[in-house]
Amino acid sequence: MPDHHARRVRRDRAVHAAVARGLLDPDETPVAAFVDLAGVTQSARELVAAWPRGLEVLHAFAAKANPLVPVLALLRQHGLGCEVSSPGELAQARAAGFPAERIVLDSPAKSRRELVDALGSGIALNIDNFEELERVDALVAGGLPARRVGVRINPQVGVGTIVAMSTAGQTTKFGIALADPGNRERLLRAYADRPWLRWVHVHVGSQGIPLELNAAGVAEAVTFAQDVNAMRPGQVEGIDIGGGLPVDFTGDEDTPTFADHVAALRAGAPELFSGAFKVVTEYGRSLLAKNGFIASRVEYTKTTGGRAIALTHAGAQVAARTVFAPEAWPLRVLAYNCHGVPSSAELEVQDVAGPCCFAGDLLARERKLPKLETEDVVVVPDTGAYYFSSPFQYNSLPMPPVFGFEVADEPRESHTVSFRVLRAAETLDELVARSGTWGGAL
Ligand SMILES: Cc1ncc(COP(=O)(O)O)c(C=O)c1O
Repeated sequence: MPDHHARRVRRDRAVHAAVARGLLDPDETPVAAFVDLAGVTQSARELVAAWPRGLEVLHAFAAKANPLVPVLALLRQHGLGCEVSSPGELAQARAAGFPAERIVLDSPAKSRRELVDALGSGIALNIDNFEELERVDALVAGGLPARRVGVRINPQVGVGTIVAMSTAGQTTKFGIALADPGNRERLLRAYADRPWLRWVHVHVGSQGIPLELNAAGVAEAVTFAQDVNAMRPGQVEGIDIGGGLPVDFTGDEDTPTFADHVAALRAGAPELFSGAFKVVTEYGRSLLAKNGFIASRVEYTKTTGGRAIALTHAGAQVAARTVFAPEAWPLRVLAYNCHGVPSSAELEVQDVAGPCCFAGDLLARERKLPKLETEDVVVVPDTGAYYFSSPFQYNSLPMPPVFGFEVADEPRESHTVSFRVLRAAETLDELVARSGTWGGAL
């Protein structure tokens, strides 16, 4: 069975089983998120298999894409490392059991405390700007070891289709802009003066970046590393190429694949594979997006001004990107009946709305879908990365539960679906507890 078909079958079985077991109870849990654990395993294996065996590569999963500790732990078990961008993500990576030498810290605004922690514990660090470099200088002069330190460059190779996700534009906020007057020379001097600067980091952007543009940015990083090594042979030992393999949100297929990315890099940045450099990757969405979905009961339906509207519990609180930037982040919506079986109702143009108190809280506008009825289930696939892990707190809607699932084939064409809680539903008490209280006078 092709992979994408198998993924769809697993999803259908999981929705059906979730309804049967009350995990999508209309009163108790009208919205929940699901992670296809076998899909995560398969994606991790495909990633590892796509890269040449002879190369020393650390695949550091970008925790921002899905920071659930059990998901991170699963990826660790498959041999991946973890890229983090904040003290919170670092704590999550540690809780998932990643050892320091498999963690990479990137962030444009690392505090002194974060730098001390990273240097002191041997976490790889990518410096964002010249001021941060001076700060690290002072810490190293004060005795902290600089075991795995690099600098993030901005190769300024251009932007993709989503400017907010593009990090190699002329004026993008990340990294040291290599093509700005004087910067290349200044950075080369910085490496010459600091033998402990041994890595070069680049991340061209996330989603909407063509593979050729991604490879062009990586090629800039490789050329810079070669320039450093021409001054001091062997100083730069590794290139961190970031993430950015895009996801196709229109179907179940993984396109492009990790192998497509490696092929594009071989064409556009061949020296990355010369064996002169170790490699770190920071894939995020390409590992998780297609391995997760959100499901919600339809609470009510109505018709307004001739438009059919289904009111569900999945809106901006779980899909902020899609609600606020629907052109950049369109999602499929799949209709299932109240028993969790793909709906065979007649197609009708409908809006699929969320629960939040603003009119734009829509997951789909004028979408032709099987006519939705109260207690039907809508499923929003491809949301395993950057969706239920990026809650939006407006209207104080509690964070939904996240369930991991596995489907096992049984004799005579039957199967069983097993679920595990990956994150319990937030209770109202927990919600109130994070809503502030009168503290003592300061
Ligand atoms: C530095 C860095 N690395 C990796 C990633 C992950 O990108 P993606 O999920 O598109 O692979 C991001 C995303 O924002 C990032 O900023």
